[in-house]
Amino acid sequence: MCGIVAYIGKQDAYPILIKGLKRLEYRGYDSSGVSVLNGDLQIFKKKGKVKDLVDHVGNHRVKGTVGIGHTRWATHGKPNDINAHPHVSGNKRLSLIHNGIIENYQPLKEALIKLGHTFESDTDTEVLTHLIEEIQTRDDLPIDEAVRIALTKVIGAYAIVVLDKENPDILVAARKASPLVIGIGRDEFFVASDASPIIEHTKKVVYLNDEEIAVVKRDGTLSIKNIDNQIQNPFIEELDLKLDAIEKGDFDSFMLKEIYEQPESILDCMRGRINAEEGWIKVGGVETKMEEFLNAKRIIIAACGTSWIAGLIGEYLFEELARISVEVEYASELRYRNPIIEEGDIVIALSQSGETADTLAALHLAKDKNALLYGIVNVVGSSIARLTDTGSYIHAGPEIGVASTKAFTGQVTLLTMLAIYLGYEKGRIPRPYYAQLLRELENIPSKVKRILEKDDHIKYIASEIKDATNALYLGRGYNFPVALEGALKLKEISYIHAEGYPAAEMKHGPIALIDENMPVVVIATNMSAHDKIVSNIQEVKARKGVVIAIINEGDNVIKEIADYVIEIPATDEPLTPLLSVVPLQLLSYHIAIMRGCNVDQPRNLAKSVTVE
Ligand code: G6P
Repeated sequence: MCGIVAYIGKQDAYPILIKGLKRLEYRGYDSSGVSVLNGDLQIFKKKGKVKDLVDHVGNHRVKGTVGIGHTRWATHGKPNDINAHPHVSGNKRLSLIHNGIIENYQPLKEALIKLGHTFESDTDTEVLTHLIEEIQTRDDLPIDEAVRIALTKVIGAYAIVVLDKENPDILVAARKASPLVIGIGRDEFFVASDASPIIEHTKKVVYLNDEEIAVVKRDGTLSIKNIDNQIQNPFIEELDLKLDAIEKGDFDSFMLKEIYEQPESILDCMRGRINAEEGWIKVGGVETKMEEFLNAKRIIIAACGTSWIAGLIGEYLFEELARISVEVEYASELRYRNPIIEEGDIVIALSQSGETADTLAALHLAKDKNALLYGIVNVVGSSIARLTDTGSYIHAGPEIGVASTKAFTGQVTLLTMLAIYLGYEKGRIPRPYYAQLLRELENIPSKVKRILEKDDHIKYIASEIKDATNALYLGRGYNFPVALEGALKLKEISYIHAEGYPAAEMKHGPIALIDENMPVVVIATNMSAHDKIVSNIQEVKARKGVVIAIINEGDNVIKEIADYVIEIPATDEPLTPLLSVVPLQLLSYHIAIMRGCNVDQPRNLAKSVTVE
C-alpha cells in the first residue's frame, strides 16, 4: 500500500526520491508524487506509475536537498492527479505525505471548513495537512509541536512526513499503526515505509514506534518524542539486508526470482533449527515458552491472504502431529467478533510483512485477553515482530512480488518444524517417524529444485489452458489448502476467476460449472486419499472437464486418466504442501505472462495491506 520516502541532506533530493519510489512500487499503488523544497515547494503528482510521474516532470529541473515522495493506493477518493500525495496546506507552506486512514476526517474537515479552509481533493490526508496548518498558525507553534498536537486530535492510522517551507532544514515524521523507518546517513537522513529505499544509502536505521514523532535535521541530529510530549531514546539498528536481495538480477520478474529462490529460502528457514543426523529440531521462539506451548489449551492462528492459507496447513499439522486443537481465523473477522480467547490460549500471527493492519488489530485484541502472542513473520523489525511476546522469523529474504511465493513456503516450513517439535516434545510422535520426518524435511530443498526443472513442461501446460475464464483447484487433506493457494495465485496475477475446493465438496456445487472449457487442477500427491481423488478425477472427466493433475512421480493410475500431469517427488504426507504448491506457482506465473499481465504488480493489489 502507500509508500513513503523522504530525504534531507546535502545531495539532490529528487533522484533519491524517484529511485526510492521505484523501490516501493512493489507495495502496490495507483499514483505517485514528490515535493522538493528549494525556496519554494516544487510539487509534481501523477496518476499511474512512477514512470508517468517522471514523464510528467519532464525537463523541469527539480532542485533542492530536502523532499518527500509518495506512492498512493487509493482509500478516500479515486486515483487521480489531485488526490495523489503530497498534499499542501491552504497557506501553501506545508507539504505532507501519508500512509493510513484518518477515520475522523469528516468532522475535522467540517470544523476546518467553518474556519475558512477550502479543500481541493477528496482525501483524508489533505484534511490532516490543513489541521496541522491551523494549529501551527493559530498558536504560532514550531512545526513538530503543531504536528504532535494535530495527531492528538486524529483517530486512525498514519505514517506521515511533513515538509515546512519556512523550515528547510528539518523534516517531521510520525507513525501510528503504519510503518516508518528512518535511515541515518552521514549528515543526511532518509525516511521510508520500509528499508528498501534506504539500504543502498545506509544500514543504520531507527524503526519509529506507534505514536512517536521524529524530527530529523540537516545538521545530522535526530530527536524523537511521543505524542504525550515525552522525549524518547532512538534505538539504532543495523540492517541485515543486501541490495541484490531487492533487485531482479537475471530474472524477468521478482515473482519468478522468488519462486526460484525457494530451495535456498526453505533452507534458510531451517538453518540452525534442525539436524536430522543428530536427530534434533528446535524453534528458538518456542523453546523459551515451551511450558506455555505444551500446556496450551488451543492455538488460534490469525492471518490474511496467502498467510491465512499457510495457517490452514498449520491447523492440519498441529492437529495431526502435536494433537493440539487449532482454529484458523481471518484476522479481519476475528478482530470484530467477540471471540472467546482466554489465558492459556496461544495466538499465532502469520504475516510476511508483519504490518497487515487486520492481523495487528487481532493481536491487540488477543493481548487484551491475556493470550500468549507468537509471531511468524518475514520482515525483521516489523510491527507484528515487535508486538508479539515471542516469535520466529522465516528468513525468506525480501519478497517483492505482490503474489506471495517464497514467504508462503517459509511459513509452511516453520509451521511444519513447530508441529514436529511440539509433537515430539509432547510424546505424540514415535522416535522412528520423528527421525524420518526430519530427514524428509532436510530433503525438501533439493526436491523443490527438481520441481523447478519441470518449468518448461509446466509452461507448455500453461499455454494449453491460458485462455480459460474459470478454473477449479481441488485437493484433499493437506492438499486442500494448497488448492486454495493455487486458485488464489491464478486469480491474483492472471485475473482468471478460480476457486479452490476440497475435492469431495466439488459435488456440492462447482460440479455444475464443469464442461470442456473448465480446467480442473487436481492436487493428488497424498497417497492416503489416492483412491478417493482418483474417483474425483473420474467425476470431472465424465463431465468433459480438462484435468491437470499434480501427482507423485510414477503414479501411472492418474497418468492414465488425466489430460496433463505434473510429476513431483514424493514425500511424507505432512510435508506435501511444500512441494505441491511449487508447480501451481509456476503454472499461474506462466499463464499470467502469456496473458500479458504484470505479475509483480497485479492491478488493485497491495503487498503490504496497512489499512483495514
Ligand atoms: C496482501 C498480499 C498477500 C498477502 C496478504 C497478507 O493481500 O498481496 O500476498 O498474503 O496481504 O499479508 P501478510 O504480509 O500479512 O502476509
